[in-house]
Amino acid sequence: MDQRKPVTTARIKKMKEDGIPISVVTAYDYPSARLADEAGVDVILVGDSLGNVVLGYESTIPVTLEDMIYHTRAVARAANSAFVVTDLPFMTYHGGIDETLNAVARIMREGAKAVKLEGGEEIAPTVEKIVKAGVPVMGHVGLTPQSLYQIGGYKVQGKSAAQAEKLLRDAKALEQAGAFSIVLELVTEEVAAYMTRELSIPTIGIGSGAGCDGQVLVFHDLLQYAPRRNRKSSSKRTPTSANKSAKALPGM
Ligand code: KIV
Repeated sequence: MDQRKPVTTARIKKMKEDGIPISVVTAYDYPSARLADEAGVDVILVGDSLGNVVLGYESTIPVTLEDMIYHTRAVARAANSAFVVTDLPFMTYHGGIDETLNAVARIMREGAKAVKLEGGEEIAPTVEKIVKAGVPVMGHVGLTPQSLYQIGGYKVQGKSAAQAEKLLRDAKALEQAGAFSIVLELVTEEVAAYMTRELSIPTIGIGSGAGCDGQVLVFHDLLQYAPRRNRKSSSKRTPTSANKSAKALPGM
């Protein structure tokens, strides 16, 4: 039987203060969530990466709120102590605040304990309203896959001074809005480490080097479980930042 106490946002923030690395793994169904929970991970993320690794899409953009609700329901049944965070999918938090809060409410009713949103300064007012409604928010800056076509591909972020300054401004705006932690995806190692020092809330890196307060891995990357895409034109594995940054590993 799992004797661990349920992980809370207070515990996650304290881990940063105490220099204890924060482990985050994605899960999308009951068995993967059970494995992650029993392994003792701190946070299970029901990521919209399920679009890539479970549903076979090219990106996270086709993932719907109904998809996230369905997968959160299964994950929440398995998570005894891990803190469950669910992604708000593409375009569910850019309209009116009522629509956003309705999406948040539907996800939380399935057993999520927090939601994750992609974006910086421009979504800070929305983050503030969700936090004021009593729901913890995880931010996500750097490579934000829901804006893939605006960014122009899975590119490392923060290479220029201007980009690095903007990343820090975005992260500070999220911190100010009440986010309890922030994912840094595909940010240069130096900038991610600098942001981690500058922020009072934990940073969770993916493809962003070892200087973050925690790391998040996509379950299928961790297990090397993602198949090659079933397309004549491509021999690539399903793209996620972790498998992109792990290219140097043997067999990738
Ligand atoms: O959807 C997801 O799995 C994510 C992680 C890559 C951070 O957002």
